[in-house]
Amino acid sequence: MPNSCPRRSPATPVPVLAGLTVIICLFSSVSPVIGWRPWPNQQPTNNTTDLLFGGSKKYEGSSEFVHLRYHMGPVLTANITVHTIWYGTWQKSQKRIIRGFLNSISAVDVKAPSVAGWWKTVQLYTDQTGANISRTVVLGEEKNDRFYSHGKSLTRLSIQSVIKSAVTARTKPLPVNPKSGLYLLLTSDDVYMQDFCGQVCGFHYFTFPSIVGYTLPYAWVGNSAKLCPGICAYPFAVPVYMPGFKPMKSPNSDVGVDGMISVIAHEIAELATNPLVNAWYAGQDPCFPTEIADLCEGIYGTGGGGSYTGQLLDGHDGATYNMNGVGRRFLVQWVWNPVLNYCSGPNALDQ
Ligand SMILES: *[C@@H]1O[C@H](CO)[C@@H](O)[C@H](O)[C@H]1NC(C)=O
Ligand SMILES: *[C@@H]1O[C@H](CO)[C@@H](O)[C@H](O)[C@H]1NC(C)=O
Ligand SMILES: *[C@@H]1O[C@H](CO)[C@@H](O)[C@H](O)[C@H]1NC(C)=O
Ligand SMILES: *[C@@H]1O[C@H](CO)[C@@H](O)[C@H](O)[C@H]1NC(C)=O
Repeated sequence: MPNSCPRRSPATPVPVLAGLTVIICLFSSVSPVIGWRPWPNQQPTNNTTDLLFGGSKKYEGSSEFVHLRYHMGPVLTANITVHTIWYGTWQKSQKRIIRGFLNSISAVDVKAPSVAGWWKTVQLYTDQTGANISRTVVLGEEKNDRFYSHGKSLTRLSIQSVIKSAVTARTKPLPVNPKSGLYLLLTSDDVYMQDFCGQVCGFHYFTFPSIVGYTLPYAWVGNSAKLCPGICAYPFAVPVYMPGFKPMKSPNSDVGVDGMISVIAHEIAELATNPLVNAWYAGQDPCFPTEIADLCEGIYGTGGGGSYTGQLLDGHDGATYNMNGVGRRFLVQWVWNPVLNYCSGPNALDQ
């Protein structure tokens, strides 16, 4: 998902910030969705052919429209530690699926096509010194925000306060690690986030020193199971306006969480390559960056584009996935490969 240039609400004082980019972004609106999701307003046709071959297809296999550039900012080259905030009500089984995915990113000895193989494409990105994105992604500390400290309806700005509460908590605060920490805020299926479902399934940005005390790269991803699984957990759920499309069986038997996995992967890949929104993205306007996962939204396999996922794998249990993790399978979208100049993933048929 594109990252958030926070929308300024009239009652909110503008934080004092260094950096022109951020100030400009504060005054502009939310960035649009570049890639393909079955957004309700994106229902141009009931023509299956159009649905299959529309959308992000133009990016796949073609670099003609894509001018991904490096804008000289930092990327995450040191070992990445993911600190998770579980906001709201989470089942143990749901946490296990998400931890299982995060643990798979740098796992060795997993059968190909693997999550670690997917991350290899992210590792191809470098900073100005030529240092690559870290191979290592580890689980850090976790914080439970069981009692909805900031309510059941969050905004792009209020989530910074959620993160602040987590890093300043009196008991077991999350460690402050601006250099190689990545803060993952996950909201349960009864929490609404500004623009959720209509425009975004997840986004990433960084915290403001004026609110949190530090500049910490973070991502938010919500469980869409109750609000809009047909949009944010596609293809494990299908919107009503797409009759004739059957949902696929999710690999870990939890439609909402299995749908979150690909969004989490999307955001982590973009955070690693564009943590302060001044490194790797396409487009002229840093408020509307098209990042390495935006370019491949909805593409999970060879031939993917529009509502067609591309060639996937079928488990013996009938579930659909495209890569193996530690003891689990996942369906994860591809990311832009800067060497090949197209979207690629570990399950590509042509590699
Ligand atoms: C499909 O589109 C045609 C022409 O636009 C329209 O007449 C028809 O009612 C539509 N069918 C459905 C199921 O939406
Ligand atoms: C659907 O769209 C495709 C491509 O735009 C077109 O070739 C085809 O004739 C359309 N089918 C119908 C039933 O309208
Ligand atoms: C680092 O990035 C360069 C440039 O994309 C690439 O050629 C090289 O293979 C990458 N190294 C690793 C370990 O991924
Ligand atoms: C980074 O992770 C690797 C394992 O992938 C480990 O060997 C190394 O010591 C770590 N480096 C630091 C600075 O923690």
